[in-house]
Amino acid sequence: MSLNPTLEGTKKIDESKQGNVFFQEQENTVKPADAKHFYIESYGCQMNFSDSEIVASILGEVGYHPTRNMEESDLILINTCSIREKAEDTVRKRLRVFDKVKARRPGTLVGVLGCMAERLKAKFLEQEKLVDMVVGPDAYRDLPNLLSSANEGDKGVNVLLSREETYADISPLRLNSNGVTAFISIMRGCDNMCSFCVVPFTRGRERSRNVFSIIAEATDLFHKGFREVTLLGQNVDSFKWTNPETQEMVNFAQLLEMVALVHPDLRIRFSTSHPKDITDEVLHTIAKYENICNYIHLPVQSGNSRVLKLMNRTYDREWYKERVEAIYKIIPDCAISSDMITGFCTETEEEHQDTLTMMEFAKYSMSYMFFYSERPGTLAGRKYDDDIPLEVKKRRLAEVVELQTSISHDLNQKDIGQTFKVLIEGDSKRSDQDFKGRNSQNKMIIFPKQAGLVAGDYVQVKVREATSATLIGNIV
Ligand code: SAH
Ligand code: SF4
Ligand code: F3S
Repeated sequence: MSLNPTLEGTKKIDESKQGNVFFQEQENTVKPADAKHFYIESYGCQMNFSDSEIVASILGEVGYHPTRNMEESDLILINTCSIREKAEDTVRKRLRVFDKVKARRPGTLVGVLGCMAERLKAKFLEQEKLVDMVVGPDAYRDLPNLLSSANEGDKGVNVLLSREETYADISPLRLNSNGVTAFISIMRGCDNMCSFCVVPFTRGRERSRNVFSIIAEATDLFHKGFREVTLLGQNVDSFKWTNPETQEMVNFAQLLEMVALVHPDLRIRFSTSHPKDITDEVLHTIAKYENICNYIHLPVQSGNSRVLKLMNRTYDREWYKERVEAIYKIIPDCAISSDMITGFCTETEEEHQDTLTMMEFAKYSMSYMFFYSERPGTLAGRKYDDDIPLEVKKRRLAEVVELQTSISHDLNQKDIGQTFKVLIEGDSKRSDQDFKGRNSQNKMIIFPKQAGLVAGDYVQVKVREATSATLIGNIV
């Protein structure tokens, strides 16, 4: 997934991103008979999924092992998302399920992690009696302390945000891993203050992670057999890390190059790019290295300049179009995807049409599409009237979805007859006779297996059929 919540809204989800529950037990872990177990569910964006792997690593240090079975767990964790109201509703529904487990297994602790923990803080303990711990995204190192207090009966909250925390030294415990693709968190927080968005409040100030720890993590993953890493941040283009010893600054383009040089067989993806910050230097770096994928997630949010201004996105329609043109000029076979919000405060029908024409212009390979959901505390929540009726928001969303389906369909038809280098990720969902994998443009391709090939291998696949979501082909 891109930095996109995968649980709600209307969007295209690629196969690997659908599961929201982490329950893969780590193979080869020797567990003492009295080992404690934790069960974790993650909601929201990739950042949260990545954080859950950091949490798993921290808990491993104090003897807690992951389990797929919530009924045998001593600790149930839910890593939450606040991006839209519906995301929070989902979390509350899950807490009702945990309630029942707790009733059957007294002593089981329940912890709420992530963005909703940060947003609601101690209020969570008042609202949800079963919750024992509320832990914000920058406080996961405190989990062992909170856990031992909770085991003594003291409920705990730590929602302190940090200006420095990047968990750089923590080696994530890969949960639910296919052994081929992995996320690497390269920065945390966001300084952008888009008027609709809760993330700056739940994740705090933007900070970039030590470059050497990023390279070390990528190298380690490669040696363990992984063949693709996705560098994660809310706005990767503003990555900026200064080496404290040399005072040299590393920007995102330079970081991309350094990761690309880890090994030519290690594919690099990244998410999310902000249209205001993506530079030609980044585009030229992508073009220069075959292993940096030709795929950019460049959320537009709206195609109308007045709405973009109201959203505080700090670019306008013309700027965005210029960036799209630059991408297709510098990386001709690049795929671009997007996020769109319909029915933002005061959006008119004409302005909504601008989003549709922008989609045609940018030719998005896919998009994550949502109707506007007012979030408490944001600029829009405080200052603007959420005045577009729900039916109108939903109708506009349906139009956006319909257009995206048709654009994706047309683009995919053009791929028929073409041959792509595909990284095998595993068995296709539908049949164990087929593999699934992705091309550089991030399109999922399904193709019949061939003896001797395994997940993690690269193959050349010629496309013979296509739907709006998937390509189907054969190894050549
Ligand atoms: N940092 C990324 C976005 C992270 S949130 C970026 O700037 O592109 C993922 C997506 O959720 C956003 O791109 C936006 O389309 C959507 N979103 C965020 N807040 C929302 C809200 N209040 N209502 C509806 N959609 C929202
Ligand atoms: Fe939210 Fe905007 Fe930051 Fe993205 S860039 S996380 S939309 S504030
Ligand atoms: Fe991600 Fe949701 Fe938080 S989108 S940053 S988990 S609010």
